[in-house]
Amino acid sequence: MDWTALEAEVERCTACALAPTRTRTVFGVGDRSARWLFVGEGPGAEEDQRGEPFVGQAGRLLDNMLASIGIARGNGVYIANIVKCRPPGNRNPEAAEAQACSAFLRRQIELVGPTLIVALGKIAATNLLGRDVPVGSLRGRVHDYRGVPLVVTYHPAYLLRNLPDKAKAWEDLCFAMDTMQALTASRSSEATAGAP
Ligand code: URA
Repeated sequence: MDWTALEAEVERCTACALAPTRTRTVFGVGDRSARWLFVGEGPGAEEDQRGEPFVGQAGRLLDNMLASIGIARGNGVYIANIVKCRPPGNRNPEAAEAQACSAFLRRQIELVGPTLIVALGKIAATNLLGRDVPVGSLRGRVHDYRGVPLVVTYHPAYLLRNLPDKAKAWEDLCFAMDTMQALTASRSSEATAGAP
């Protein structure tokens, strides 16, 4: 499925209990051939109105986090969520809802072909890695999502409520940048080695 078909499929999806209460689906935003892919949880109230991920207060913090590693929404990064419809009252998406949406995110990731995925918070990490463990125990290591390297940090909405953990998120972003640099360097040396 290409981008156009996928977007249309998401827009008409009624596969889970979130569909009847959404205002709009929130597909994803950004550079469709980005090296970076950030994955959040699900749309909040503002995202549900505007149809774009991370446009509320947490989104402004995410934009600052992106700026700190030299990227910007729409330039070098693609941003998506585990679920494309707002969970009522901003509750966490349920496992069945995340499962119903997982093929959409999987295809988005295939189409973008990122070098590195950054999972924002426990819901993103749990669903992408298929195991339910605290963010604290996943930080600082490179994990794997279907062959794509993945790192984990705190969700910006959590950081807004737990300001002291911003320092840990900064450590995670530095780790993500180092990981990206190493991946890019090893790919370019592989390409050089393979050149005629
Ligand atoms: N907005 C989003 O789009 N995703 C989140 O995870 C939080 C806020």
